[in-house]
Amino acid sequence: MKLVRLPALILSAFVVAMSVVTVAPSTVAGVSCPWMDTSHTAAQRANSLLSAMSLDDEIAMVHNSDDKWSYYGAVGHIAGNARLCIPDLVMNNAGQGVGGKQVDTTAFPAPIAQAATWDPTLEEDFGAHLGKEAWKKGTNVLLAPGLDTGRVPMNGRNFEYFGEDPYLAGVTAAAEVTGLQSQHVIATLKHYLMNDQETNRTTVSADVSERVMQEIYLPGFQAAVDAGAGSVMCSYNKVNGIYACQATKILTNDLKDAFGFSGFVMSDWRATHSTVQSANNGLDMEMGSTVGPYFTGALKTAVQHGEVPRARLDDMVFRILRTMFRVGLFDHPTPAEPSASHANAETTGEIQFARTIAEQGIVLLKDRGGLLPLTGTGQSIAVIGEAASGAGALKIYNGAGSAHVPLFGSKSDVVTGLTGITQRGATNDDSVTYSSGRSIPAAVSAAAAADVAIVFAYDVSGEGVDLPSLDLDQASGSCGKGGCTYQASRQNELIAAVAAANPDTVVVLNTGGPVLMPWAGKVSGIVEAWYPGEQMGKAIARVLFGDVDPSGKLPETFPRKMADLPTRTAARYPGVNGHATYSEGLLVGYRWYDQKQITPLYCFGDGLSYTTFDYSGLKVIKASGGGATVSFSVTNSGKRSGAEVPQVYVAFPSAAGEPPLQLKGFDKVSLAPGETRKVTIGLDSRAFSYWGASGWTVTAGKYGINVGSSSCDIRLQGQITMAG
Ligand code: NOJ
Repeated sequence: MKLVRLPALILSAFVVAMSVVTVAPSTVAGVSCPWMDTSHTAAQRANSLLSAMSLDDEIAMVHNSDDKWSYYGAVGHIAGNARLCIPDLVMNNAGQGVGGKQVDTTAFPAPIAQAATWDPTLEEDFGAHLGKEAWKKGTNVLLAPGLDTGRVPMNGRNFEYFGEDPYLAGVTAAAEVTGLQSQHVIATLKHYLMNDQETNRTTVSADVSERVMQEIYLPGFQAAVDAGAGSVMCSYNKVNGIYACQATKILTNDLKDAFGFSGFVMSDWRATHSTVQSANNGLDMEMGSTVGPYFTGALKTAVQHGEVPRARLDDMVFRILRTMFRVGLFDHPTPAEPSASHANAETTGEIQFARTIAEQGIVLLKDRGGLLPLTGTGQSIAVIGEAASGAGALKIYNGAGSAHVPLFGSKSDVVTGLTGITQRGATNDDSVTYSSGRSIPAAVSAAAAADVAIVFAYDVSGEGVDLPSLDLDQASGSCGKGGCTYQASRQNELIAAVAAANPDTVVVLNTGGPVLMPWAGKVSGIVEAWYPGEQMGKAIARVLFGDVDPSGKLPETFPRKMADLPTRTAARYPGVNGHATYSEGLLVGYRWYDQKQITPLYCFGDGLSYTTFDYSGLKVIKASGGGATVSFSVTNSGKRSGAEVPQVYVAFPSAAGEPPLQLKGFDKVSLAPGETRKVTIGLDSRAFSYWGASGWTVTAGKYGINVGSSSCDIRLQGQITMAG
């Protein structure tokens, strides 16, 4: 028999698990389940329950229970155990609303739009709304948030993630986790780790240095773990040659030992590749749309033969149970099947909230001559483009794949851009015409005859396939269950022709991430609305007409051309011989453009408002624990109310070998015209640390503190000296 060395944390959990507490018995449905006593801690209750479980009971907890399961319209299920008062674990996809086969749930804006709000308070509310809907539907484990990094802007799932910066992604995910779990639903961080492309996702190895992994790819997960996330989903790909779901380094050393993750690791659907190796290296639950095959009978046999120590199995189950107790799954059971799965979970509050996130995430990129907002009355507006009317069919109200929230049941249909503009325009006595743009001459005549032309352009993105290019003409098509297929379009030509016919042309983009804009200099307005959820048309219209001030900021850099991308070589993306080499190192997103002095079309953090903001009075002082406190004032110097997102970028001493600027803090402040607000942002010691040979290290020297409205629009500069 092979002796397996268990990591310290697993053994200590085992010791805790075995020190069973005596709790007062309580009876549920005629069954005696002492662990239902809520006066004990989650760990005590889990220990008590674990001690009552047989080997078979434990094995049943660590794998999907049913083939092609669709109970409650969900995508995964671990059957409860009535004898032990254990509720079912019902899992569903969730990044942009409760998905799967679920009906009557709200289609919220895509996660990339959520990140563009730069508003963790709003994101926490989103988590709570999402959790509430899930719970009503009988789901108590949501497979979100997604935290892979926007390393490759063509990644078909970037819409499911929070952009290219680990700090912004981590803060956003942490907020969602807090909101979601407040509703007694477990959050699942995915896809751990570096599932940064869909091309060859089940075979590719993401090859990365330890420093880059620690500084770019892990911090978002760490922030969300710190917020208490109950579950982590390991990914399909390999990390440095080892399948993520059986890699001790990332599962046990980084996640469980270094970050202190106390929850459980589940595999992505069929991302488990072994029994003994996966179990001993840190996987706690095998998931898929079928049962097993690795953590079923094979795991039982491995435990009986000592290949997987019983202590490891106990630890797997203990982690699941403790999380279920901690998040409240035992004490706040979901409504009973089957009525819950068919009830309409969506309330007016949720619909309204979906609109609010969409509004807050919309990014105004260009507004030549103050064409926007459209405050005039009696204007003629030509709305152009298939995306303006076909959002439902094109699947651009949210992205495609497992995260897609379908529109069926009694749920109202998507409010399209055309509907939103027509309804809102009517209140200004504006007249709206529509041209699909399939005939460019027809669109041109409509634009020429109108005061303002609004062209909707789009790309499609979904799971399983990357976009062929950031060129809009190659990035549109249609998405179905099997992913998206791409067909050539003439969107660039359409926009250029419309802009030539009418200089007062505004382009509204419904894209899952950055796109190229060869026509950017020709149009008057550009609005990035992402995949904005079912209330998209209302949100877009409210921004265009100035009912709400645009305050979203880009969570990803928009390049001028494909050749500017950091991952422009085949070795980096999509990889050669099964390896994607992350040789751009730390230079992901804006870090690359800054270091290489390549001017993007739009920068990370960019986003205009209908008002203007002035910055003044920067002060940087040391804080305890090796951090700093940055304070400054922001004044609304324009004539309208608006919100600004001041961003703090740290520049390390050159000896540290870091990229020029790194986001380490931000805030979002709403200001009335003329109002000034003092903003204070705390930076902890990690903001001044890089990953060196012996872990997190502070280089002695002067650190630049750059405060601005975007990574390219630094308004205030200061310094702070740190001792090494
Ligand atoms: C595979 C996807 O990668 C994952 O994100 C999803 O949660 C599962 N399928 C379940 O649908």
